Amino acid sequence: MKDRTLDLRAVEILQKNDRGLYTVPTSGLYPYQWNWDSAFAALGFAEFNLDRAWTEIDTLFNAQWDNGMVPHIIFHRRVDGYFPGPDVWGTNSVPASSGITQPPVAASIVRHIYDHDPGIGRAHVERLLPKLVAWHRWFHDYRCEAGPCAVTHPWESGRDNAPDWDAAMAAIDTSGVGEYTRRDTAHVDASMRPTKEDYDRYLAILYFGRDHEWDEAAIRDRGPFRVADPAMSFILMRANRDLADMLERFGQDRAEVDGWIAELEAGVEDLWNADLGAYDARDLRTGDFAGSLSSGSFLSWYGGLRDDRMLDWYDKVAGALPYGVPSYYPQGAKFNAKRYWRGPVWGIVNRLIAVGLADAGHADRAEQLRERTAELIRKGGFHEYFDPEDGSAAGGGTFTWTAAIWLAWASSSSGRAAA
Ligand code: SER
Repeated sequence: MKDRTLDLRAVEILQKNDRGLYTVPTSGLYPYQWNWDSAFAALGFAEFNLDRAWTEIDTLFNAQWDNGMVPHIIFHRRVDGYFPGPDVWGTNSVPASSGITQPPVAASIVRHIYDHDPGIGRAHVERLLPKLVAWHRWFHDYRCEAGPCAVTHPWESGRDNAPDWDAAMAAIDTSGVGEYTRRDTAHVDASMRPTKEDYDRYLAILYFGRDHEWDEAAIRDRGPFRVADPAMSFILMRANRDLADMLERFGQDRAEVDGWIAELEAGVEDLWNADLGAYDARDLRTGDFAGSLSSGSFLSWYGGLRDDRMLDWYDKVAGALPYGVPSYYPQGAKFNAKRYWRGPVWGIVNRLIAVGLADAGHADRAEQLRERTAELIRKGGFHEYFDPEDGSAAGGGTFTWTAAIWLAWASSSSGRAAA
């Protein structure tokens, strides 16, 4: 299919997944509003309907908790076919939501969308800035502890079953979980999804939060899962830089946010695994490295680091298979080309990596990654993710964020501007 035809198809997918004030990632498998999916949806909408892009972000932040947290799922209205739904989370929030967050790409996307048309964006950004500051402050209070950014649930990372979490997940007590019915495997082949053991542990961690009434201090201090994540740290670092820039442009004080950037820059040093020669996830309960090289480690440039420490690994991993960047390195023993975050390639992650590479002066690599991502979409359509070995489509179909990054970056007709 020609890129112009795919452009039209991508617009159709965003419109089909549009529920009025928010967009679902894909109907069936993910029938609610997801946090970072929604930010990417706004990136896509901004290519043809700026007002709709701002509505997406406004709806997301209307679900912000009083403590500053922006939830990872917002259950605007009840839909069958998803587990665990609002009753399982038991957060009692209005609107109903999950009790954890997701990677904070929103500030960077807000800055990007604002630059499309400052006249349209000004009032939105003025309203959003205090909300973004409150969300980032929440991260620094409850997830960062003046070091790298941690996740308290694999779902919080957005990379649910990455090998990064395996050792910490193995320690989770699942004896109280009981029976439940998964719904994801009714939509997608089970071989492409997390395992039953993963789900038992996801629920055990969720139940800890619910049993502690989503008290962040209890989750921080005693929660069963607390793993510092390079991807989350780099995404937050970038988001803080973009937030600080917006504060300055709007005549506001950026000192607090600059302090967070400095803390993260120092904090990610704790994630440098010298044995692996890479940024690596680290279990904060044990201090152990995961020994897992994931695509998230290649977000160091996106975060703003300019040391090129990851460049050799990038060339090795991106060059190992025809369709990089795999979510887990193909030389690793746990590599699985089809199982969600244990090998498949994701368009949104490729875009973040490429934005960072381009910023850091690696324009050729960034362009090669854009073209590879475009090839995957030309070949397999707007799927959730792709097999990096043969390029075949995997996971959910007609996916919002794949359509969005096509429009904003991968398509030969896109502006390819950074965010
Ligand atoms: N990704 C999780 C799921 O598959 C939740 O965020 O439901």
